[in-house]
Amino acid sequence: MTPETTTVTSIRLAAPDGSPLPAARAGQYVTLRIPEGGDPAPVRSYSLSAASAEDGYRISVKHELHGVVSGYLTTTVRPGAAVEVAAPRGDFILKEGTGPVLLISAGIGVTPVLAMLHELAASHSGREVWWIHGARSPREHALRAEAHALLVSLSYGREYVFYSAASPGECDGEHIRAGRLGKDQLITLGVPAEADAYVCGPARFMANITDALTAAGIDSSAIHSELFGALSSINPGLTRSAGAPPHAPAGPRATGPMVTFARSGVSTPFPDGEGSLLELAEACDVPVRWSCRTGVCHTCVTPVLSGDIEYTSSPLDAPAGGQALICCARPESDVVLDM
Ligand SMILES: Cc1cc2nc3c(=O)[nH]c(=O)nc-3n(C[C@H](O)[C@H](O)[C@H](O)COP(=O)(O)OP(=O)(O)OC[C@H]3O[C@@H](n4cnc5c(N)ncnc54)[C@H](O)[C@@H]3O)c2cc1C
Ligand code: FES
Repeated sequence: MTPETTTVTSIRLAAPDGSPLPAARAGQYVTLRIPEGGDPAPVRSYSLSAASAEDGYRISVKHELHGVVSGYLTTTVRPGAAVEVAAPRGDFILKEGTGPVLLISAGIGVTPVLAMLHELAASHSGREVWWIHGARSPREHALRAEAHALLVSLSYGREYVFYSAASPGECDGEHIRAGRLGKDQLITLGVPAEADAYVCGPARFMANITDALTAAGIDSSAIHSELFGALSSINPGLTRSAGAPPHAPAGPRATGPMVTFARSGVSTPFPDGEGSLLELAEACDVPVRWSCRTGVCHTCVTPVLSGDIEYTSSPLDAPAGGQALICCARPESDVVLDM
């Protein structure tokens, strides 16, 4: 365990018997279950901030105020402790190419793009790599020396760091600027229109940065993002009741298989009797995406992180492996869904 700032701690994950871990791509995340903190034990996802076959995985966790899992991982866990970790997954990964790469992050959103920077440095990439990061101040800027050293090692690395709340004198350095990283600041940098961009940070930051990248002429297909929370809802003509955080469903506790909505931090038994995983998510105020609700449109397609599902009616076209159409699916065993 390595403290990176007063609130961020990096943790190395390895197999208990030292055996090799499943291969991980830079930008992917692991889902882990801690042994305490509630019944059922809570499950959360963490991007790998570095992944190597030899050294295992590294995650870097920000201690959220009153956060159950981040609190456990940054203050309670001790070296040698056992946590259950699923194999890395996610499609926020570097695309092949020779053009410029923009790695843009704010706060703890640095983790997946830092893993990408490691991958580019390890392969001695000849690509132009723009590192653009926003933090409150150097004191709250996790992993900054590591990122700086990697950028210096690249042939065509460029570094821009924005501090929104630094004291006078903390913004010394050619690559450091005072002010919050947002749309205007990014446009001023003059990023190349032919770049591939990878963006991670709070939802509003990502919306502003996506606007700026589009204004800079970057095609939407070349803008890739990772959100550290639930995806926004999609449902025709309906709006979700504002501000309702995800929660266990009302009524007596059911006895079916345990369903975990990992991004929303909710675990609850599947209701006895009729119903779909989509209906259970709705009962928990977990943001949902749907249109047809009959297995045709694929709007509700959701990665299944672990466990098995069965269909109550057959989808018109089966989704890709590891995914489920939750509008017409029920759990066959305990399941963890990426929503
Ligand atoms: C793909 C993905 C990758 C991620 N990667 C990372 C990463 O690399 N690093 C990282 O740090 N996080 C990452 N996250 C976020 C992480 O999964 C957790 O959401 C985060 O650590 C908070 O979990 P928690 O259990 O600590 O907070 P929870 O207990 O779930 O609480 C959620 C929020 O509610 C607030 N809260 C809870 N209880 C109270 C209360 N009583 N009063 C007031 N407020 C309260 C907490 O402050 C917190 O902000 C990632 C998420 C996803 C989906
Ligand atoms: S909502 Fe259309 S397939 Fe599920």
